[in-house]
Amino acid sequence: MTAADNTMARKVALITGAASGIGAASARRLAAAGASLVLTDINYSAVTALADELSKAGTQAAALQHDVTQPVDWENAVALAADTYGGLDIVVNNAGIAGDNTDLMNLDLEQWHSVLSVNLDGVFLGLRYAGPALEKRGGGSIINISSILGKVGFPGAAPYCASKGAVTLLTKSAALEWAPLNIRVNSVHPGFVETPLVTQALEDREDGAETAELLVAAHPLGRLGQASEIANAVAFLASDESSFMTGSELVIDGGYTAQ
Ligand code: NAI
Repeated sequence: MTAADNTMARKVALITGAASGIGAASARRLAAAGASLVLTDINYSAVTALADELSKAGTQAAALQHDVTQPVDWENAVALAADTYGGLDIVVNNAGIAGDNTDLMNLDLEQWHSVLSVNLDGVFLGLRYAGPALEKRGGGSIINISSILGKVGFPGAAPYCASKGAVTLLTKSAALEWAPLNIRVNSVHPGFVETPLVTQALEDREDGAETAELLVAAHPLGRLGQASEIANAVAFLASDESSFMTGSELVIDGGYTAQ
């Protein structure tokens, strides 16, 4: 797939958490493929700056302040796609947080809920509110960003792993329910990717530098991933090139889970 392939001309895509990291890279990649974009984030100024940049380069891109934990924000996001572009074909449920690095013995319910609400409730609401819009178009593609930590555990990240594991099976349930509607639903499982989510989590740890080295060593390809490498997979799942894929787990992890 080339960087400007026009495979998604006439498609409308909504990306959550689009202001940064994997979401922003996915926005750039889908823009290159010709999609019209609704870019949403709790960080309104940053997501607006990205939409403005892409608009100047010829993409139709609208920005919206959107907290994925809030049903009313989802109503607004889906309505923006309908009002601005006439409907919705692609949803990238990408917004997510890492949570604190806290072991289970010290984890409180509030910390647990804060991660689950963004990473799991946010994806549920995305399905719940965007699903009917895709049905109206006669089908579409939903890409849920899970993680390798939705497949294997990680010390100090129990809520994150639980949320991402749940997204994996939420994805498969939606895929089965919506296959008759021609709505494909797949999950993406990145290894550790160089984004603010990871750099901030490492900065917050006393042993951050040591952990960074261990993380690199845990990926057989000997490096962390780049957001653009995940965005390529998002674009593939969004496009008709993946037309026989639904309920799949697409792992992009430099070999992390092959061991
Ligand atoms: P990031 O921190 O660079 O970007 C996340 C974006 O989500 C930010 O712009 C933030 O403002 C937004 N956001 C946070 N809470 C939100 C909310 N309640 N509503 C709407 N937007 C919200 O993170 P990154 O790394 O790009 O992560 C994107 C997704 O990829 C997340 O779901 C993350 O769990 C997942 N992921 C990341 C990996 C990594 O190593 N960076 C590895 C595997 C999965």
